[in-house]
Amino acid sequence: MSRIIIISNRLPVSIIESDGDINLKPSAGGLATGLKSLNTEKEIIWLGWPGIITSDTSLQSKITDKLKALGMYPVFLSQEKYDKYYKGFSNETLWPLFHYFQQYTMYMTSYWLAYKEVNMIFAEKLFKIAEPDDIFWVQDYHLMLVPRLIREKYRKASIGFFLHIPFPSYELFRTLPWRSEILEGVLGADLVGFHTYDYVRHFLSAVSRILDLNHHFLGRVTLHDRIVDVDSMPMGIDYDKFERAVYDSETQKEIARYKKTISKDEKVILAIDRLDYSKALPKRLKAFDRFLEWYPEYKRKVTLVIILVPSRSTVPQYQSLKDEIDLAVGKINGKWGTSNWTPIHYYYRSFRFSRLVAWYHISPIALVTPYRDGMNLVSKEYIATKTDGKGVLILSEMAGSAKELTSALQVNPNSTASIVDALYNAINMPEEEQITRNKRMKKIIQRNNINTWANNFLTRLEDLRKLSDKLLEKQFDDSAEELLLKDYNLATKRLIFLDYDGTLVGFKNDPMKAKPTEELLDNLKKLTGNDKNNVVIISGRDKNTLESWFHHLPVNLIAEHGAWCRNIEDQWCQMTALKDDWKAGIKAFLEAIVDRTPGSFIEEKSYSIAWHYRKLDPGLAEIRKHELMENLNLRISGTNLQLMEGNKVLEIKDNKVNKGLASTSWLEKDEWDFIMAVGDDYTDEDTFKAMPDKAYTLKVGFTATAAKYNIDTVSDVQKLLTKMTSL
Ligand code: UDP
Ligand code: G6P
Repeated sequence: MSRIIIISNRLPVSIIESDGDINLKPSAGGLATGLKSLNTEKEIIWLGWPGIITSDTSLQSKITDKLKALGMYPVFLSQEKYDKYYKGFSNETLWPLFHYFQQYTMYMTSYWLAYKEVNMIFAEKLFKIAEPDDIFWVQDYHLMLVPRLIREKYRKASIGFFLHIPFPSYELFRTLPWRSEILEGVLGADLVGFHTYDYVRHFLSAVSRILDLNHHFLGRVTLHDRIVDVDSMPMGIDYDKFERAVYDSETQKEIARYKKTISKDEKVILAIDRLDYSKALPKRLKAFDRFLEWYPEYKRKVTLVIILVPSRSTVPQYQSLKDEIDLAVGKINGKWGTSNWTPIHYYYRSFRFSRLVAWYHISPIALVTPYRDGMNLVSKEYIATKTDGKGVLILSEMAGSAKELTSALQVNPNSTASIVDALYNAINMPEEEQITRNKRMKKIIQRNNINTWANNFLTRLEDLRKLSDKLLEKQFDDSAEELLLKDYNLATKRLIFLDYDGTLVGFKNDPMKAKPTEELLDNLKKLTGNDKNNVVIISGRDKNTLESWFHHLPVNLIAEHGAWCRNIEDQWCQMTALKDDWKAGIKAFLEAIVDRTPGSFIEEKSYSIAWHYRKLDPGLAEIRKHELMENLNLRISGTNLQLMEGNKVLEIKDNKVNKGLASTSWLEKDEWDFIMAVGDDYTDEDTFKAMPDKAYTLKVGFTATAAKYNIDTVSDVQKLLTKMTSL
């Protein structure tokens, strides 16, 4: 049975070494705490950094053995690599940028190079333990290049990627000099998961703007040989474990102990976080200070308990943040404290599970107001421990969990006043209201727990792989190629239809720059120089352009989707009687659109007119396209005109003209013993449909088609032509 291999920077446990002894401690942070509770039918193994830097090989093998017994495999890194990859690119570049702290973002090539190298080290280590039929699940921003590295090694593997932090808007992401490589790295996966739909939107917008890849409204990106689904799947917690833990004797003891340290009349406001600037702790302290100022009657009646888990202490911003918090806590306690009341209880350390649950359980208010947070599990854990249903969660609307926990008191974390108001409302919220709100949230958290989340992800991943495999059945592979070449070789009367743009050459922003390459001209020369071959270039291009590019070759040309035809050494002739008196009205309408849509342009042909939008921002392109389609469909209804969508182009033409009819007239000219048609877009589907069963029909790209085969790219078409011409 295939295994699930989780690949993450941090393993769920970290190694602590003292005098040659090795001990394990749970790792901090949502990814590790969340994923360690996973429970699936399949065997799970982990690959990750063990939390220790050592070059001592005997210690490394001791650690390896200890972890292996737990199904974990360590990736050891040198201090220098770790610094540049983890502290550097992960936590001084990606983390601040993805959390909208551009002012902290370091754009350093040396960090990037180390990141690439370490991603490669992870992949190489993975290949030592993996089997191709394992399921690979790569986690988080440290390893965004790994999905692609796995894909390069195992083309048909099931690969998932989940980002546990926000994905920023395109405007921020585009500032990264390595933005394309990062997106391409992630798109090595079959399924890319985010906590919220906003992150999905931002990711897809970056993919279409930076990589010029289209996506489907369902979040499906089609690559040349497979599909990638991108979706929001909010991570859950092990709800039952938190709820049950409240009744453990260990937790009960802690509860009793904490209750003694706080007087009965004091309400605890709990703040638990890793020490991180994204969590906005100084802002919360300011709001607490302001609260005491505005509502002095609550002095001695509230206590703020802060549990700050040490994190990334070698990164400069984290060090100065610690100083800032220490200072602010001291000031507030000095300002408001009395001999029998300390307004803030401040713990700078990690708490074991029973203590954490005890604090959650006894605190009537949780104040969770990060500036940005991918998900925020603390908010969910707090609700899960509220066994009597009482308690108020104040939650930042910028936390991923805010999308699910809509019954929390949501605040804008930048607004001190709104946090102060929320504190006041929380303290005064009637118990029935607390219970009603928490009931709704519990239902959501209980249902979408960690296992539901993981199983949904893994099931979806499995289904996607099946779909990609199905689409791959049409792949023009070696055996299909062998068959085609054999038939081609035996034949004496061959008819070959070749579409031009997207088939023989790739797309360019300016269509006139998509000229035939030397390689193509050489192939066409050889192909058309063979007496057994009849080659027809069947294109939507205007006749003058085709003429200027191919006049020196004995090739037949079909222009404007079939409006014009020129047989070798013949004159151009119209394939059917057509009118062009409709063009002026449509052209005027399109011109008005172009005036307010810079970057788009009109191409006028003798019997058709096209609006190109390749250079447009994808969002604007979508809007204008729909506007045009709606309007044009109205204008042409009841006429002979047809609106046709090509690759970043809309074209209006006479419906008597199409590549199917044009190619049929060629088919009827003779008895052919080898027929082949290659094309890439919607207009070529008519050609494919017109071909007899025995024909070899090939669609460039990986989408559903009437063609017999999908061939990957323009360069694969060239390779095929080269093979045909060298037989
Ligand atoms: N946590 C912990 N010990 C502590 C404080 C917190 O194990 O003393 C855990 C907490 O239970 C939660 C995680 O740390 O699961 C924090 O995850 P969250 O998603 O809230 O934030 P992140 O650290 O991932 O940014
Ligand atoms: C966040 C990240 C995790 C990371 C955790 C702790 O939750 O999404 O990937 O493990 O913070 O940070 P650290 O740098 O200590 O691993």
